[in-house]
Amino acid sequence: GNASLLTHALARDTLSRIRDVSTSQVSFRKGLVKLGRIAGYEIIDGAMETEYVPVETPLTEMTGERVTGMDDVVIINVLRAATPFVEGLLKAFPRARQGVISAGRDEEAGMDDDGEFPITIDYVKLPTIREEDTVIVADPMLATGSTMCVVLDHVLNDQPKPADLFVLSAVSAPDGLIRVGEQFPEADLLTVAIDDYLDENGYIVPGLGDAGDRAFG
Ligand code: PRP
Repeated sequence: GNASLLTHALARDTLSRIRDVSTSQVSFRKGLVKLGRIAGYEIIDGAMETEYVPVETPLTEMTGERVTGMDDVVIINVLRAATPFVEGLLKAFPRARQGVISAGRDEEAGMDDDGEFPITIDYVKLPTIREEDTVIVADPMLATGSTMCVVLDHVLNDQPKPADLFVLSAVSAPDGLIRVGEQFPEADLLTVAIDDYLDENGYIVPGLGDAGDRAFG
């Protein structure tokens, strides 16, 4: 699991805006949509191929290009904060198949000595994965990585290995990147920012607060 930064200037701009504590619910949600769209374009640019296709313009025939593999994309929405993020991703991958998984940290139980949270899974509905698929598991926050590891267990369980597996987040903590990277070496971890640390409650610092609460009100 190697981790890379999504370095698009507009992604950094948008993330900085939604980090701001004074950003409203509407602007926060729209910011997540925008980040999802940019991340999708970046994934296309970095990981997908193009092929040459004949094009007939109003004037002549020419050779154009088309991105391949756009019909082999699966996006996993980790409820609930990922919903606006996924809305943006779908603008980049309009024909993606979608999976939904509701996974949440048991905040009352708190972090254990290994820095993990117990995760409650309430709902799982996943498409069948094919070996030619590009799978993108989206969650704007990767904190301890506990949620993502449980989600990936469900997504990959009893399925063929997809051609590409991306774990996409907006803000990550080093702990989460390390945990997911170690447990899922086949995953490419993409994030707009790697923040400094997790506080004693498992919140990313400086972070952006609770993305679910800020997006949903
Ligand atoms: C947040 C976030 C991730 C998870 C990350 O969700 O959206 O799913 O925490 O934390 P972790 O890496 O330490 O597991 P939360 O549990 O707050 O649920 P919500 O999206 O429904 O608010």
